[in-house]
Amino acid sequence: MLKTRICDLLQIEYPIFAAPMGLITGPDLAAAVSGAGGMGIMSAGANPPEALRNAIRRLRRLTSRPVGVNVLLTEIRNFPRPVDELVGVCIEERVDVLSLYDGDPAPYVERAHRAGVKVMDQVGSVEAAVRSARAGVDIIVAQGVEAGGHLAGGTPLSGLLPRVVDAVAPTPVLAAGGIADARGVVAALAMGAEGVVMGTRFIATPESEAHPVYKQRLLAAGEADTEYTSMFGWDWPDAPHRVIRTRFVEEWRGREARGQEGRPDEPAIGVLRIGGNEFPILRFMSPPPSIHASGDIESMAMYAGTGVGLVNEIRPAGEIVREIAAEAQRIVQERLYPAVVRTRSA
Ligand SMILES: Cc1cc2nc3c(=O)[nH]c(=O)nc-3n(C[C@H](O)[C@H](O)[C@H](O)COP(=O)(O)O)c2cc1C
Repeated sequence: MLKTRICDLLQIEYPIFAAPMGLITGPDLAAAVSGAGGMGIMSAGANPPEALRNAIRRLRRLTSRPVGVNVLLTEIRNFPRPVDELVGVCIEERVDVLSLYDGDPAPYVERAHRAGVKVMDQVGSVEAAVRSARAGVDIIVAQGVEAGGHLAGGTPLSGLLPRVVDAVAPTPVLAAGGIADARGVVAALAMGAEGVVMGTRFIATPESEAHPVYKQRLLAAGEADTEYTSMFGWDWPDAPHRVIRTRFVEEWRGREARGQEGRPDEPAIGVLRIGGNEFPILRFMSPPPSIHASGDIESMAMYAGTGVGLVNEIRPAGEIVREIAAEAQRIVQERLYPAVVRTRSA
């Protein structure tokens, strides 16, 4: 059985988490991962508060297991979101884990704890991890620069994770960034993580809300096909992210500054539908191509981590969780444990 302290803390079977991915991790994906014994963290996405409440209720109907919901604390240019209210909805609905990103978690911790909600914060540096731990955050996610999506820091996981683990002990730490199979899980546990958060692996599932073209690009990409850039910065400037190196990314490489300007006259490349409303997607905007988007999908931000080369087929999310958990256990029992025993008796 692959079990760590985090499993007892959250009453889950396996220390495997589906990352909150804006517009991609909806109720279906989160429920499939929680239902299989891991924990799905649904993204609040672009939902206004009442739509978020409905999404959480749908998630609860789909699974009776513990679930998390993520609220992005970022101020998105030209798309104001009532962050305080969104966090309030998560707390009122008593999600098991309130996951936060890209901001100071301190104002929310006490409110969440009073309702019995645990708080998780994703960070990219030791300093940010210590700040979160001091604020009373229950679980810290150390995000390496290998990650898909927006990046909290610039350090590879192997340098960051053990330092974060030491700095915030005994607060449990999860590893995120470039992990896409059981070998990555075992490596993260060996570095002191209590579990892993995988995003890219779960994009290639029937339950994810990624556009079919995005899923196909992901399957075709290898480990050298991602790019660290700040190109898709129209609405979220100066925020590095990792995407698949598509033709569009190749074309604008070296001219990323243009993406930060937020020019109102950038051409519209598509449309995003959110709750009955349609929003134009201008060139360099941050939303990834989801099933709610249409238009020039190839020119949108196809976020992916460096583990993308390991993602070669679309598989149900629950199968991925169970297989990775079983395989991780096999690696420890059949490769690592015998290696130690052999050394001892030699
Ligand atoms: C498409 C996509 C969207 C993401 N959106 C969010 C988000 O809204 N909130 C958040 O906390 N993290 C977000 N992330 C980052 C993930 O939480 C996580 O750090 C990352 O997926 C881990 O790396 P991996 O993709 O290599 O597994 C996103 C990642 C991806 C790939």
